Amino acid sequence: MSLEDMVTVVENCQEFCRKADCIPYFYITGGDPLLHPQFWILAHILKIAGIPFAILGNPFHLTQEVCMKLRSCGCRKYQLSLDGLKETHDCIRRPGSYDATLKAIPLLRDAGIDVAIMATISKWNCQEIPDLVDIAVENKADIFAFARYCPSKEDVSSCCSPEEYHEMMKKCWQKFEQYKGCSTTFNLKDHLWTLFRCENGLFQIDENLDMK
Ligand SMILES: C[S@@+](CC[C@H](N)C(=O)[O-])C[C@H]1O[C@@H](n2cnc3c(N)ncnc32)[C@H](O)[C@@H]1O
Repeated sequence: MSLEDMVTVVENCQEFCRKADCIPYFYITGGDPLLHPQFWILAHILKIAGIPFAILGNPFHLTQEVCMKLRSCGCRKYQLSLDGLKETHDCIRRPGSYDATLKAIPLLRDAGIDVAIMATISKWNCQEIPDLVDIAVENKADIFAFARYCPSKEDVSSCCSPEEYHEMMKKCWQKFEQYKGCSTTFNLKDHLWTLFRCENGLFQIDENLDMK
C-alpha cells in the first residue's frame, strides 16, 4: 500500500467514526508490517491522530527498542503465530522461528503491549494444540486463540478432519478450565466454540429469537 492510500484509509476511518460516534482502532497485518518502508510514518500518523492499533506480524524484527517505539506510537496488541510445538512450528515457518516467537513475548509485554498467540489449525498441528495452550500460559501470553486453516482449492488435504478438530477442542476446553484465573485469556474466536458449548449444555439457543 502506498503512503497516500494509507493516509486516505486513516482519514476515511476517522470521518466514519466521527459520524458513527465511535472510537477508531486499527489492525495492521502482513506479512510483517514492520518491513513496510513507510511503516514508521504510518505509526506516527496514528500516534498524532490518537488512534490505537494492533499488529499481526512476525517476531524477527522485535527488539526492546522497537517494542518501546511501537508502544509510544499507540500499539496496544501484537499478534504472533505459533503453529505447533517447536519442531512443527519451525517446519511450517522456518528454523528458529519458534524460539524467536517465545523470546518476543516478554519484550512486548515489558513495553506494555499485550501479546496474542494465534494458532492456525491444520492436519499438521491439530494434535499439538492442547500442549500449545500450556506453552502460551507458561510464557505469559495475554491472549490465546486458534482458527481453522482456510485452504486454497489445491490445498484441501492440509485440513484436519471434523472428528480430529472436535477432539482437539475438547482437550483445549479442559485446559481452559484448568487454567481458569490465570493471566492468559482464551479467546473463543472460532464460531465452532458456540456449537461446542451448545453440545455441552454451556450455551442455550434462544428459541424466541426472531430469525426473520
Ligand atoms: C496473515 S498472518 C500475518 C501475520 C504474520 N505474518 C503471521 O504469519 O502470523 C495472520 C494470521 O493469519 C493466519 N493465516 C495465514 N494464512 C491462513 C490461511 N490460509 N487460513 C487461515 N489462517 C491463515 C496466520 O497463521 C496468522 O495466524
